[in-house]
Amino acid sequence: GGDAPGTPTPPANSGTLLLGVATALTGGQATFGISTRNGIEMAIREANAAGGVKGQKLAVKVYDDQGKPEEAAQAVTRLITQDKVVVILGDVASSNSLAMAEKVQPAGVPMISPASTNPAVTEKGDYIFRVCFIDPFQGFVMAKFARDTLKAANVAVLQDNKSAYSIGLTEVFTRKFTEMGGKITTTESFSQGDTDYRAQLTAIKKTQPDAIYVPGYYSEVGIIARQARELGLKAPMLGGDGWDSEKLFELGGSAIQGSYFSNHYSPDNNDPRVQKFVADYKAAYGGVPDALAALGYDAANVAIDALKRAPDTSGKAVRDAIAATKDFPGVAGTITLDEKRNAVKSAVVLKVGDGKAEFVTTVNP
Ligand code: PHE
Repeated sequence: GGDAPGTPTPPANSGTLLLGVATALTGGQATFGISTRNGIEMAIREANAAGGVKGQKLAVKVYDDQGKPEEAAQAVTRLITQDKVVVILGDVASSNSLAMAEKVQPAGVPMISPASTNPAVTEKGDYIFRVCFIDPFQGFVMAKFARDTLKAANVAVLQDNKSAYSIGLTEVFTRKFTEMGGKITTTESFSQGDTDYRAQLTAIKKTQPDAIYVPGYYSEVGIIARQARELGLKAPMLGGDGWDSEKLFELGGSAIQGSYFSNHYSPDNNDPRVQKFVADYKAAYGGVPDALAALGYDAANVAIDALKRAPDTSGKAVRDAIAATKDFPGVAGTITLDEKRNAVKSAVVLKVGDGKAEFVTTVNP
């Protein structure tokens, strides 16, 4: 991993509280990390403008893990041993966060994942937290939407067998959709980074599904949508938060329009807190913040709030303060961390339109 441009690193022990970030800034998950970093940096600028924490300014050190678990593990080791950060934020993709948690837990440095939804992430230990909902809920949301709203009876699944997130969501969706009386016609697999999905899509087409559940990341989903349409598969595609990227519209073009995915937040929410965040983000970065930007901002603010409340900045004190987070007003929902260190929050369902995801509905836990 290399240093991200524009992230100043203070010298060690300079009276600066350093937060560490490991996330993807390059590769097939790049927009996840770029948005997350933007949200985190925005929260830090605001906190510093308001006087910092415990008389100290905050700064952030960001490593690019390229979306690879091994790189993510190395990056957190560096953040802990060389940079001596007080808290770690990241990653987005669950497979990367799982690798990070392995290193962070024994070191006793608290970690908050903004957006990793696989349940196993926070099960790695009592120093690992997240500010988002988990996949048993997200999978249920899309199963219910498919069954009750779209009236789908037969759904095919196309999963990424290299992603803990995708495997987990496939399991939940399959179980919930079947419990609701639906039928899974076939489950096909690909590996992250593949570019030809025609064999799996041809197998799916034979089963004549009403919809195709693709719990993957935008880079692959965009290509899958195009190849599905080329093969004459017209059924809508359904997915999860991993679709959330401005690149989805570019990669998927008209092929992805009319498909649906579950997500953490919609920038169209007219809550004044959300609208202020959207306006400030646009002014700083020139685009509409996606869910990662919102969750990065929220994760950083939860860390900052805990640093303020903690009696000192030792790993144990900060861990305990994060664990006590209650009714924290995030832009992607109010955050109370439960005894499993997860946030219980509502989800939204979005419909892919022309260059934009349109809000359809909110589902409460
Ligand atoms: N939930 C995904 C995972 O755990 C990551 C993600 C979150 C992607 C939000 C996009 C938006 O792998």
